[in-house]
Amino acid sequence: MKGPSPSIVIFGASGDLTWRKLVPALYNLYVKERLPQEFRIVGHARTEYTHEQFREHLHEGVEKFAEIDSGSWEQFAKNIYYVQGRYDEPGALQKLNDFVKEKEPANASRLYYLAVPPTVFAPIVNSLGKAHMARDNDRWCRVVFEKPFGHDLESARELNAIAHNVLDESQIYRIDHYLGKETVQNILVFRFANAIFEPVWNRNYIDHIQITAAESVDVGHRAHFYDEVGVLRDMFQNHLMQLLTLVSMEPPASFNADALRNEKVKVLASLRPMSPTTLADHSVRGQYEGYLKTDGVDPQSTTATFAALNLFIDNWRWQGVPFYLRSGKNLAEKTTDIVIHFKCPPHLLFDLDSDKEMSANYISLCIQPDEGIHLRFETKVPDTDSRMQSVDMEFHYSEEFGPMALPDAYERLLLDVLQGDAALFTRADEIELSWKLIDAIIEGWQTEYAPPLETYAPGSWGPQRAYNFLDNVGAHWIMGCEEHD
Ligand code: BG6
Repeated sequence: MKGPSPSIVIFGASGDLTWRKLVPALYNLYVKERLPQEFRIVGHARTEYTHEQFREHLHEGVEKFAEIDSGSWEQFAKNIYYVQGRYDEPGALQKLNDFVKEKEPANASRLYYLAVPPTVFAPIVNSLGKAHMARDNDRWCRVVFEKPFGHDLESARELNAIAHNVLDESQIYRIDHYLGKETVQNILVFRFANAIFEPVWNRNYIDHIQITAAESVDVGHRAHFYDEVGVLRDMFQNHLMQLLTLVSMEPPASFNADALRNEKVKVLASLRPMSPTTLADHSVRGQYEGYLKTDGVDPQSTTATFAALNLFIDNWRWQGVPFYLRSGKNLAEKTTDIVIHFKCPPHLLFDLDSDKEMSANYISLCIQPDEGIHLRFETKVPDTDSRMQSVDMEFHYSEEFGPMALPDAYERLLLDVLQGDAALFTRADEIELSWKLIDAIIEGWQTEYAPPLETYAPGSWGPQRAYNFLDNVGAHWIMGCEEHD
């Protein structure tokens, strides 16, 4: 990659994210020759490290999470430095700035990565402003915010206001790592680079849409954090809303960041707000058995570790089409998929076996773990009059492009920030609209209209009400991405 010589400054550099994700992703980009020829990575955190100790620490992470080659690592590691300090100590950022300046050429651009707890986003941004590190006419400065961006609409607005005091919106990159996943980006390619799907991608042909982001792990060592947020803030406000907007948005005129995000924002603005009277029927909340005994969890906690929502988008394309979303911890499997469930044929010419119902076609967009796409349709069973059987046409990334073809989401996202492409990052208005929807549900769950908080068995598919959640449309949850014989 040609271009300016960036200094990548990571706040919170001694933490897990830097070790597990950021530096392995930067190393992979380096090996693939996608980083500019000259660059430097400067870690900043409270932990005491020399440059060499910091490199050693990162080396372990890269060994674990990337395919390391010792020659390339040595070359790469020469660009890594560490500055110990606290972001809130007087003069600390000045010291950091002086160090970075000494290492970089005069016109070097700056990428600041906030790999820190969300409570310190605002103080760091303010300190960057005070130290005159955030704007410069001669070079670009970009700031990456990890999630969560706020914990409700009000705090997200406050954080946006603080960030906008110091930075232009064009300098702000709010991460949702789901957008860095190849299969999530492929939703747009599938819809808009093929002419055959878009004409049927609407209320005339689609019966309903299901979005599942299930996790088999429990809350683990993040119990304290999780108990404060719950599944709606942790998964729905960000990842599930992203999947929903990508699958339902209108085609943008270009893949330009604003064109794309304008269309996503229109979807979020058209989501029907959940009213107290619809809440009980249109949402399910659950907590897995044993959650209350986890270290770090309040023994009286009513935090939901599972939720299902039935949403509607009030626009011409989607009027009346239910969107069913579910996510939870400690479920039967780790799987993320989207099922586009088409309507049944209006009239059937062929006799059905007495125990069979008419089957609808569906397309499953398999986000993970077996990334790909499946199309289910009916076929005639050979050597019968007209018996039918559902079969799948399947595309698996691993078969087509090899088992290691899919890079980690952070590679793509870091590269995009370096190149100034914000298409896969969340804009201020987008984040506020999705908080507005989620806030209303969280508030409704505190009222008499709330659905019951049901416990569910670890390793199941959630509370009993979730199993029957699609009864309204005469359907059930589909595991469209599983292998079929
Ligand atoms: C994170 C959530 O944003 O996404 C975690 O905070 C969750 O609770 C994770 O486990 C899921 O990400 P992925 O990529 O494993 O589906």
